[in-house]
Amino acid sequence: MLDMLAKLKSTALSAIAATRDMEALKELRVRFLGKKGELTVISRSMGNLSPEERPGIGQAVNLLKEKIEQALQEHMERLAASRLSERLLKEKVDVTLPGRAFAAGGLHPLSLITGEIEDIFTGMGYQIAEGPQVELDHYSFELLNIPKGHPAREMQDSFYFSENVLLRPHTSPVQARTMQKMAPQLPVKIICPGTVYRRDDDATHSPMFHQVEGLLVDKRVALADLKGTLLAFARRMFGAEREIRLRPSYFPFTEPSAEVDISCFACGGEGCRLCKGSGWIEILGAGMVHPSVLQMSGYDPDKVSGFAFGMGVERIAMLKYGINDMRLLFENDTRFLSQF
Ligand code: DAH
Repeated sequence: MLDMLAKLKSTALSAIAATRDMEALKELRVRFLGKKGELTVISRSMGNLSPEERPGIGQAVNLLKEKIEQALQEHMERLAASRLSERLLKEKVDVTLPGRAFAAGGLHPLSLITGEIEDIFTGMGYQIAEGPQVELDHYSFELLNIPKGHPAREMQDSFYFSENVLLRPHTSPVQARTMQKMAPQLPVKIICPGTVYRRDDDATHSPMFHQVEGLLVDKRVALADLKGTLLAFARRMFGAEREIRLRPSYFPFTEPSAEVDISCFACGGEGCRLCKGSGWIEILGAGMVHPSVLQMSGYDPDKVSGFAFGMGVERIAMLKYGINDMRLLFENDTRFLSQF
């Protein structure tokens, strides 16, 4: 029996040593140590031995079992190590390849346009002023010459929290807030960028959108100053060849009031699809600050005058980038946003 064990030992060890892959090693374990394995079969036949022989043989069986187990384990580790070094040799790493960069985020097109507008006006000496988005009726309407019951309130369908508190429908309340804070200091020279809200929702209107309001109050501010300022803005924003046109309009907080058009930057004024054949594109509303508005905010309309304007950031962005649906600006689709 000891002979059988010795033979089995040499067969097993050489078989293990000759193996080149893991699967074959697993099969060898079954072949020698499994339930019907060769060593198991030998140990089962120990019942036939005399009581004197049994302990010696039993010990030899156990030793051999340990020996085979150990050989399997060591060979498995050897195989794993050599497989790794093979892979390392084969898969060469080219350390001169450029690294893979993380995709960097970018500014939203509305932030880009707001930033451009801010740059243009701060370049002309304007300060940036901000105000609350949840606003009082007092600043949203009353101080802008739109008393309760005034039909001009219908121009803006607002979201109300209560009779006197609403989501601001325009950035104009920041005019009133700033003038009240500064009066009687001169000049007041601000732009007010910010989010505004109205009950509107289609391809060219969103219930949440953005405006930039502008206000200049000083001694002897004239309509010509407004025109010059807006012409400079239009040229910086839409190209040096732009002209502007003021059409009479109505806003309760300005007198006179105007809608301001720029000559079409797509066709140069000849008429095309973008400007609907007219050669002009409307970009903002403006006017000379109404004397009552100056007075309510603490300035003497006999001594000072001012102009104001207000524009929609989405509209400017859509024109400048050729975007045909405002909703694209709010869907957060990176395929769209990464183009700017
Ligand atoms: N508040 C106006 C609106 O939301 C925009 C506007 C027009 C603002 C004329 C002004 C202005 O300051 O003078 O439609």
